Amino acid sequence: MAKRVRKAVLPVAGLGTRVLPGAKTTPKNMLNVFDRPILSYVIEEGRAAGIEHFVFIVSRGQGSIQDYFDNYPEVEQALEAKGKLDILEEVRRDLPQPGQMSFVRQMAPLGLGHAVWCARDLIGDEPFAVMLPDMLMMAEKAALKQAVEAYEQTGDNIVVVEPAPEGEAHKYGIVALDGQDGRLNRMTGMVEKPKPGTEPSNLFISGRYILNPEIFKILETQERGAGGEIQLTDGMFGLMKSQNFQALEYEGTTYDCGDKIGLLRANVAYALARPDFADAAREAIKALL
Ligand code: UTP
Repeated sequence: MAKRVRKAVLPVAGLGTRVLPGAKTTPKNMLNVFDRPILSYVIEEGRAAGIEHFVFIVSRGQGSIQDYFDNYPEVEQALEAKGKLDILEEVRRDLPQPGQMSFVRQMAPLGLGHAVWCARDLIGDEPFAVMLPDMLMMAEKAALKQAVEAYEQTGDNIVVVEPAPEGEAHKYGIVALDGQDGRLNRMTGMVEKPKPGTEPSNLFISGRYILNPEIFKILETQERGAGGEIQLTDGMFGLMKSQNFQALEYEGTTYDCGDKIGLLRANVAYALARPDFADAAREAIKALL
């Protein structure tokens, strides 16, 4: 039986150049989507998938992430004294149990593969999730839970994918499949930004993975690839020589908060999805159009 997936790695140490100047003093993943930081949604998704320990890969100047997932005594006391218990509950809802979060410094942004490798000692010898927190995945059943179930079913490495918008596959990391039947298909490879017309499928890698721990041995000796960075996809290619990878087309909608228009779309979509704000949000948006 496949081991349980208990831990998730959240690499947040990138430069976030596409959302500057907002990300100059606020880590990209702490930018707000409607009324909470992007990371709040990602942690909620991880918890829904049964994740018990979150390992953040951080860089200098990202202390606000640790502060966000800690108590906020002055404000909590004030809210309690004023009887504002609904706000108090909101403020506390993302708090982990002590010991459920770890923070590792990447020290230099050498690439996603390097960021994941920084978690090796904390993950140890068990399968783990990687969640790219720029990608918000709105789904009835949490996207990561869908991936964990696919892992439990197969014991194979899982890469979550979704169809690229018409004519845009060349902008993404695209998977090659050994036939396509249903939502879970064995992968034969990956191509980063394929030339238009040469795409092996229309499915792009969208930011959630379940990986076996053998990936760390490969990342350890990984040469720098595209953009001079240590790429996770190159590491996965290495592991594919000895282990199976499955591409899971998950059910849900992805919002890429790593660029400005994606972040705007996410703000609108998540406001409209909130039963307590949907009507007011719709009115406000209509008035602007
Ligand atoms: P991105 O490709 O979105 O890079 O990384 P970025 O640097 O954050 O953003 P831009 O392109 O400059 O705007 C995907 C994820 O991997 C993390 C990022 O924080 C992001 O969550 N990452 C990337 C690291 O943690 N370390 C790295 O060295 C590179």
